[in-house]
Amino acid sequence: MANLNGALIGCGFFAVNQMHAWGDIEDASITAICDRDPERLRIVGDQFGVARRYTDAAAMLSAEKLDFVDIATTVGSHRPLVELAASHRVPVICQKPFAPTLADAKAMVTACADAGVPLMVHENFRWQSPIQAVRAVLDSGEIGTPFFGRISFRSGYDVFSGQPYLATGKRFIIEDLGIHILDIARFLLGDVSSLTARTARINPAIAGEDVATMLMDHQSGATSVVDCSYATKLAVEPFPETLVEIDGNDGTIRLAQGYRLTVTGRNGTTVRDVSPPLLPWASRPWHNIQESVLAIQKHWVGCLASGEEPATSGADNLKTFALVEAAYAGAASREPVRIDSLLT
Ligand SMILES: NC(=O)c1ccc[n+]([C@@H]2O[C@H](COP(=O)([O-])OP(=O)(O)OC[C@H]3O[C@@H](n4cnc5c(N)ncnc54)[C@H](O)[C@@H]3O)[C@@H](O)[C@H]2O)c1
Repeated sequence: MANLNGALIGCGFFAVNQMHAWGDIEDASITAICDRDPERLRIVGDQFGVARRYTDAAAMLSAEKLDFVDIATTVGSHRPLVELAASHRVPVICQKPFAPTLADAKAMVTACADAGVPLMVHENFRWQSPIQAVRAVLDSGEIGTPFFGRISFRSGYDVFSGQPYLATGKRFIIEDLGIHILDIARFLLGDVSSLTARTARINPAIAGEDVATMLMDHQSGATSVVDCSYATKLAVEPFPETLVEIDGNDGTIRLAQGYRLTVTGRNGTTVRDVSPPLLPWASRPWHNIQESVLAIQKHWVGCLASGEEPATSGADNLKTFALVEAAYAGAASREPVRIDSLLT
């Protein structure tokens, strides 16, 4: 396959992981970078040896001949940047959260569809190898048909020192973290028909909610609970592990802290260590997320080569984003929210 020529927009905290991962992918290179902050541009450009640097994305799109752009800015700039890429007919990856509102996200999907360019949301959590291991057990039929799931992320980790903007937004845990866990619920149990939510703010120093509990009806008939907290102080800090419990009519799956996967099913009980590998550039405890960044970026390159729609395409991610909107609406009204009414 020809080497794809990509550009990164946004050289902040998380983009460094994306740059490391691009360095591990033979068929793609980042040949230009953009950040409106010259200091971030210098740091990332020097670290990864990228000479072509821009402080303005429109200038970069006009000057460079690109096979894709990778947008790693925070949410407020996602819609204008995706629309800019679409106007240049350049395939585009956009970090999560996809957009500030579902209406913006729908407009972004339409812009890329009209331009005929692929759009993938960098929704990487489902690409974590422990989550892929759970999916493989479901696919094997070992536990039969799932009727219940609990997808849980509870932590007391200080995410605010690396990402200070997380402390200031009116929306916090559902928009930033819950979005990943809701996507995992969809990945494992299928699309959702209705959602009930409750939220709380335990940490008085932040503006948004740091606890969220969501009860979902899946179209398959399964019920799930997605629970997230950044206010949970445990003896052994699990960040950033997502724990999974799934019950099926023939057995159970438990992905427990420490990446221990226990499957009880048609062939008895097995216990496996499904710890993610520690990539050479990764650091604990982030290595689980860092490995998934490499996996999703490899998936993108494969999709560009084959013409296949990415698993977390913009169109797919509307169905995850609708759960975020439903959770905020449902927490405010204390009523269940129907998902199909948000997607029409
Ligand atoms: N998928 C994951 O696992 C994961 C983890 C952490 C963060 N994120 C997401 O990554 C995104 C970035 O987060 P971060 O913590 O790196 O933020 P950050 O603030 O550290 O970095 C964002 C960078 O984008 C630049 N920028 C903003 N608007 C721009 C524009 N219009 N043109 C050019 N540059 C612009 C800023 O100057 C900054 O350097 C967020 O959407 C966040 O939710 C994802």
